[in-house]
This record gives sequence, structure tokens and C-alpha cells, in this order.
Amino acid sequence: MTLETPERIQSMWEAAATQMRERRHPGDFPALPDIPAARYTSDAFYELEKKFLWSRTWLFVGLAHEFEETGSYRTYTLNDAPVVVMRGRDGDLRAFHNVCQHRGSLLMKDEGGVARNMRCLYHCWTYDLDGKLTFVPDEHYFSGLDKAERGLKPIRCEQFGSLVFVNFDAEAEPLLDFLTDIPALWADIPLNDLRLFDRFSFEVDCNWKCLQDNFAENYHAKYVHENTIDKVIDSKTSALQMLRGGHNAIVIKSRGMLTSGMGAAFFKSENDTAEEQASKLAEISRSGQRSYNVFPNATFPVAEYLFPIVMVWPIDAGRCKVEVSFVKTGEGPANEQLDQDTLTFFKRFIGEDLNALSGMHKALAHGGIDSIPLCWSEQFIYNHEQHIDEIIGRENIPQGLAVVRLDLPYASG
Ligand code: FES
Ligand SMILES: [Fe+2]
Repeated sequence: MTLETPERIQSMWEAAATQMRERRHPGDFPALPDIPAARYTSDAFYELEKKFLWSRTWLFVGLAHEFEETGSYRTYTLNDAPVVVMRGRDGDLRAFHNVCQHRGSLLMKDEGGVARNMRCLYHCWTYDLDGKLTFVPDEHYFSGLDKAERGLKPIRCEQFGSLVFVNFDAEAEPLLDFLTDIPALWADIPLNDLRLFDRFSFEVDCNWKCLQDNFAENYHAKYVHENTIDKVIDSKTSALQMLRGGHNAIVIKSRGMLTSGMGAAFFKSENDTAEEQASKLAEISRSGQRSYNVFPNATFPVAEYLFPIVMVWPIDAGRCKVEVSFVKTGEGPANEQLDQDTLTFFKRFIGEDLNALSGMHKALAHGGIDSIPLCWSEQFIYNHEQHIDEIIGRENIPQGLAVVRLDLPYASG
């Protein structure tokens, strides 16, 4: 927690407040070169992301408890590839290409469930929960078929607490290394005990990065969320910390003490039960809203009891899907009204974001803007874009589409 001690955050808030008063940005912060607008609209760049980014990075797909029983599974389409995540008989969680190794049929066709094995509908090749091919009808029809060589193709699958991630790259660094400073910053969160409360998704006519950027800056909060978020947090008094690996951490000062609901929604009240008033997370969660961008497409505005994990998935260069998984930490108070109010509040301010973003893709795509200037409070966007280039490999990016490489002032403990 060294990056988020109350003293450190307090001094960052004070610096932000002073800068605001003096109408300046921090003098030691590098000027951020413009971002080429075409990164958000070009099919060529989108194809680079498909080829190099989505196929090489850890992607959050769900919570361990969604796979409680042996044989519990969920299916996904990630970077156009069908994927199944399955709980084995040995208790391990594994991910596979959801593709039958006979003639390539889609294997598990439901969104999820509990299976005794994975059986292809086409010719009944059957795989055990660990992906081994166990049964081939009329096996003697094949000459020299070695079932041991025809198991499902595995995909890396690792957990951080109850958060389940997959990665198509067999050579990828371990998940914990990929997360850089995040595990230390989340030391107070009961990560082994996160449970899904509600999940919903919606599609937006924008490049996925427009949405991810939206969840990575609060320059807009004062204007877009004047009657929602801005009422509870003081977005101009924020402690912004860029982390290595393209991740970001922010703590935004609240205008009062926050409750155990999603922090940004509610103040602590005298009517709260003792349990509701007890602070389970680090004390800073009482006086500020913490939010983390986990590269490349996740945002975790953590709170004590109920908070959303917001994922942005590309559909094509000009369209994306936002998937919101509300999770509960620990037991928490049984307060249905608070739960409902948290969701209502969240949907209201996401609606405000969507309203602001509507029409953006068309506006970006037709030559009306060449490059995007970013201010100090939009620095996380630069970290994100720069890290995308690092993953893709600068040598693979056509001239004019890459961001200028900067030595960004990453936070250090
Ligand atoms: S394609 Fe699956 S058994 Fe033939
Ligand atoms: Fe917003």
C-alpha cells in the first residue's frame, strides 16, 4: 500500500488543490504529445490490435465462484475466438479454445452451465473436463489416431484472488507480473471473496478506446456528471498515479465520508448500522473514491461492499461492448435498498457518459480532427496508448499512427 498511504494521497490532493487555485499544471510533468485521431478509427490499427494486443495480454473474464462446481463452465468470444473456461475434477480452472479437434466444430454451445464432459454434437468426440480427448466413436475407422495428441488446445488461465484472467499467449509473463503494482494496491480488498451480484452489458457506437479513455479521466466529471458524480466527489482534487504496464490508479477526494456502497454513490449516514460504518478497506476508501484501470480494458472503481468491474470489448473499429459485473466483497450488510440505489446511480451516470460519447465515432472518422491534445488530468490515456504501442511493437505500427514514446513519471512506492 505504499503508493496509497493516507499521507501520500493527502499531499497529492493538496498539490492538486494548489495547482487548481494557481491555475497551472505540475511543472515537472512532461507535455503530452497529441494522440493521432486515426488510432480510434483506422481499420489498419484495429487489425494491429487484434493481431498483437488482444492475443498477447491478460484479459479478465470472470470470478472464480462462477465456476464453483466441478464441470462449471462459461463460454466467451475473445478476439473473435471461441473460448471455454472449465472447472476440472482436480479443482483447477482451465481455459481452452472451444473448438473440437476433429473437424473444428464449436464445442460448448451454451453461455455456461455444469457439464460432465465436453461432447461435440457433430460426431460425438468427447473430452474430459481437463481437455483430454477420451472418446472417439468407431475409433478403429481412423488409422493411427492418437487420442493423447488430440486434446483441446489450452489457453493460459490464471487467477488473482477470485479474479480469473486468460491469455492466448503461451509465452506471456505470469498474471501477477503483468499486474505490476496492482496487487500491492489491492492488499486491503478481500479478493478471494468477490462474488458476482449483477451483470449487464450494452453496445456503443465508438471505438473501444473511446470508452476506456472515458473511464480513465475525470476531466469530464464536472460537466457530464454535474448532478451525479460531481455531487459526491471533488474530481479536481484527485491523486493520479500512472503505473507500469499501462495500468493506472486514482483516488478522488470525496465531498464527505463514503459508505460501504459503491463509494461514489453514497455518503456515510448516522443511520447506517455499525457494520455499515465499519471500515473494512484501507481508510483512504472513506475519504476518497479509488479507481483502477487494469490494462487494457478493465476499470475497477473499488468500494467496500458493492462495486462494478467495467470491461470494454471491441466489436469492430467503430463499435464496442461494455460489460459491467457488479461484485460484492465479503458478506457486507444485507441492504437491498443500498444495492438497488448503487445500481440505479451507476446506470444514471453511465447514461450521462453515453450521451456525451454519442456520435463521437462518426465525428472522429471523417477528417474533422487530426490529433487529440491531452491535459494533465487525462494522463492515464497517454499511459494506455503508449503501452498499447509497446505491446503491438513500434516497428509494426505505420507512421502517423504511433504515439510519441515518453518517459512517463510512473508512481513508485
Ligand atoms: S467435429 Fe467434433 S466430432 Fe466431428
Ligand atoms: Fe463519466
